[in-house]
Amino acid sequence: MSVVIVVGAQWGDEGKGKVVDLFTERADVVVRYGGGANAGHTLVIDGQKLVTHLVPSGVCHPGKSCVLGDGMVIDPHTLLEEVAQCQARGLLVRDELLIGLGAHVILPYHKLVDGLREDHGAKRGKAIGTTRRGIGPAYEMKAARRGIRVRDLLRPERLAELVARNLDDLGPVIEHLGGTRPSKDEVDGWIRDAVAAGERLRKHTGDAGRHVARAIAEGRHVLFEGAQGCLLDLDHGTYPYVTSSSTIAAGACQSAGIGPTQIDAVVGITKAYATRVGEGPFPTELHGDEGERLRKAGGEYGATTGRPRRCGWLDLPALRMGVRLSGMQSLALTKLDVLAGMAEVYICVAYQLDGRELDEPPTDPDDLARAQPVYTKFPGWGPLPSDARDVTDLPAPARAYIDAIERMAGVPFCLVSVGPDRSETIRLHDPFA
Ligand code: GDP
Ligand code: IMO
Ligand code: MG
Repeated sequence: MSVVIVVGAQWGDEGKGKVVDLFTERADVVVRYGGGANAGHTLVIDGQKLVTHLVPSGVCHPGKSCVLGDGMVIDPHTLLEEVAQCQARGLLVRDELLIGLGAHVILPYHKLVDGLREDHGAKRGKAIGTTRRGIGPAYEMKAARRGIRVRDLLRPERLAELVARNLDDLGPVIEHLGGTRPSKDEVDGWIRDAVAAGERLRKHTGDAGRHVARAIAEGRHVLFEGAQGCLLDLDHGTYPYVTSSSTIAAGACQSAGIGPTQIDAVVGITKAYATRVGEGPFPTELHGDEGERLRKAGGEYGATTGRPRRCGWLDLPALRMGVRLSGMQSLALTKLDVLAGMAEVYICVAYQLDGRELDEPPTDPDDLARAQPVYTKFPGWGPLPSDARDVTDLPAPARAYIDAIERMAGVPFCLVSVGPDRSETIRLHDPFA
């Protein structure tokens, strides 16, 4: 196996950063596909924390090629800040970074429109709860064939033309949403900043698709890092409460421009419970003290926006859907330690809707909002040993919980994570083997 995709199985924040960091030990190339700085991937190595938003989470393995695929939407200033942060830690100093020239660019007006839409929507109870990072507007412009790409940052005249055209389109939208059209000086400043950022990034840009294809042809190990999670997928997630990109495994092929026949393995990441940030139906959500307890125990606050994450019990119908959408052959289970100390834990094994039992979420969001979770109760367990390196090191009730998930999801675990640190991991199967 040489080409592996890692994908979030739920609504994001499953612990992809930690798992990608671990798997990068065996990879030569790590490719972020899809999304932008809406992602926040946390790595903890020997107690030191690093949060990546755009740069692949393989960054802590010096010398490994870190690629930003063409399917991404990149805020050049956030990327420069992140690169500087990495370099201050002695990372990305060996020319590891490659930014796809075809990736789209997020400029201040994309973020402005994202924020105005959210404010406007919130007044009508219709907000998505986006990260306000300009993701939706940037992908909209891409689909409308008016987008700005990394390659355009390197051609100031073309960039200025494209920005002017974007603002012709967006000016009335900004006003309709209660904002003020940016002044010429402001726009000129944005263009100047974008050109300067392009110049600084120029040496890292290139043909990411060919780079990845060549690595695969040479038999090197390539790891694709998904952002967000399957239930946030634009086509198959809980629309309209989704992000604007293809978050499922297929998105890796689209982003890198490689065929699905090149993929050897797909690994899904699932938490031992469920979280969601932003609006949208979440059948197993726990409110009040119960939800707060999970949030506190799991440190469930957004790595990008700091928002408290909504927390609930593990949702098997949602997980089954993720497994199906991405063709996952194995799963990594994270945050099992967070459930320790609870007298009992629950798994939603199905939904009840209009007298029928469903094994996957209904496709209509209103139906999903009405679906009633059917729970199975499991006995709880005490603190997990953080030096657990084998499932036999875990208390019997925790093992029973894992076995039940494996059985009901129909996919084996390749890894169980029992703490945020790189070391706090039980490795069961190497996806590159
Ligand atoms: P991502 O977006 O999927 O990469 O996940 P985030 O980084 O947004 O959120 C996952 C959070 O859980 C981070 O703070 C991680 O450090 C932390 N984490 C990952 N695995 C574990 C685990 O097994 N146990 C605990 N307690 N924390 C974990
Ligand atoms: P990682 O990669 C969790 C959610 C937002 C919102 C919806 C749309 O860290 O798992 P957007 O800004 O993308 O237009 O917001 O998607 N969302 C995420 N939730 N983790 C993420 O990324 C997310 N990226 C976007 O909260 O509900
Ligand atoms: Mg995250």
